[in-house]
Amino acid sequence: MSCEEKKCQCCCEDGQDQQKYDRIAEVIAKYKNKEGSLIQVLHLTQSIYGYLPLDLQKFIAEGMEKPLSEVSGVVTFYSFFATEPRGEHTIRVCLGTACYVRGGKKIVDRLEEILDVKVGGTTKDQKFTFEVARCIGACGLAPAMMIDDVVYKQVNPDKLETILAKY
Ligand code: FES
Repeated sequence: MSCEEKKCQCCCEDGQDQQKYDRIAEVIAKYKNKEGSLIQVLHLTQSIYGYLPLDLQKFIAEGMEKPLSEVSGVVTFYSFFATEPRGEHTIRVCLGTACYVRGGKKIVDRLEEILDVKVGGTTKDQKFTFEVARCIGACGLAPAMMIDDVVYKQVNPDKLETILAKY
């Protein structure tokens, strides 16, 4: 690849980021004067950018004329806001009481091995973000887990690789 081509690729990546920041600036301008709109702005920003790194939180704080501590406080309080890039799919293993006593922890341990990532992390290929949940409403068929919106019931740790292969 020539230097010129490399330079062009860098410019394109910067350009994409700039486009996202421009869209976020529009969101901020639209909601700035609406009472209690910070969560809405953060939601929309996350849907545009994918996650909410500190630089972006600063950008929002300045745009909304709010202290950074307020913006960061909301981001860290709600679990649906992410400060790191997320995987294409989200795995949530239930560790509520019913699932825990029926082997939920074994599912977590096996997934940590298969995915080579700890709970809360994202796989190196950015395919899966791995989390735990308190209860996903399938207690009668514990242990349970979810991948995106699909609930898997009576999960057997030996079947996990087959389940993940669908993704
Ligand atoms: S405790 Fe796991 S689904 Fe309810």
